[in-house]
Amino acid sequence: MAGYDDRDGMIWMDGKMVDWRAANVHVLSHAMHYASSVFEGERAYNGKIFKSREHSERLHFSAGELDFQIPYTVDEIEAAKAEVLATAGLRDAYLRAIAWRGAGPDMGVASARNPVHLAIAAWEWGAYYGDAKTKGAKLDISKWKRPSPETIPVHAKAAGLYMICTTSKHAAEAKGCSDALFMDYRGYVAEATGANIFFVKDGEVHTPLADCFLNGLTRQTVIGMLKERNVTVHERHIMPEEMEGFQQCWLTGTAAEVTPVGMIGDYTFEVGALTRDIGAAYEQLVRS
Ligand SMILES: Cc1ncc(COP(=O)(O)O)c(C=O)c1O
Repeated sequence: MAGYDDRDGMIWMDGKMVDWRAANVHVLSHAMHYASSVFEGERAYNGKIFKSREHSERLHFSAGELDFQIPYTVDEIEAAKAEVLATAGLRDAYLRAIAWRGAGPDMGVASARNPVHLAIAAWEWGAYYGDAKTKGAKLDISKWKRPSPETIPVHAKAAGLYMICTTSKHAAEAKGCSDALFMDYRGYVAEATGANIFFVKDGEVHTPLADCFLNGLTRQTVIGMLKERNVTVHERHIMPEEMEGFQQCWLTGTAAEVTPVGMIGDYTFEVGALTRDIGAAYEQLVRS
């Protein structure tokens, strides 16, 4: 299987479209050594990127959290994303925008003088969790915890926060699971490695308070959809033992969309009516 570095097409890089295989960075880039990189995952449906501007704004916010400024405005990023989609001729696509500190005069931890770069690529990408989308995903419980907001900028979508996501997901996949669920530094249920989590109990929805992890745009959209349907949503701290009493569970994320969860560790959930309704309504919304 060809790697993601070995594809036909064009990638927008620092203001121009470059050949896909030539969109490279130097090994002495600051981001490679110190994780000074922030990114967005976005999906286009019928030629329109869902919550496009919100993603570009979050990219700027994340860069700010890492003390760098992206040298392109939100409007310029919006135009670049449109150009990427048009060049690729894609209407349904996943987009990845990434900004990072490059190579420059500084090779130590401080790098204020190194240039900041931005690249945007798009490709076709189906269901993130494969057939779990219909059957319900199986999640492992990670040995790692989502960190305290006092230790790292937890609301940034920053590369450094994914170190434990990769290792947790590897461990989960080795056990035949689709993903891993993190508890947070206090022991509360937090999120999966690339998605937020929701539970249903007696017709009401419970979701962890996003006070130490990414408050996903899909999470916010789904909460809005539930409230519009007069479903009570409790955003609160959730203890892991509470999962015993929850009847349904789903994940939300740009890549994951709304994916039902059938099992977390030894806890089981049904792919119930509310999960299916919200999943179908989300699909309709993103295409409307
Ligand atoms: C760690 C993490 N949490 C949550 C999410 C969901 O965020 P969003 O719905 O904005 O895609 C993502 C995906 O971007 C993620 O990587």
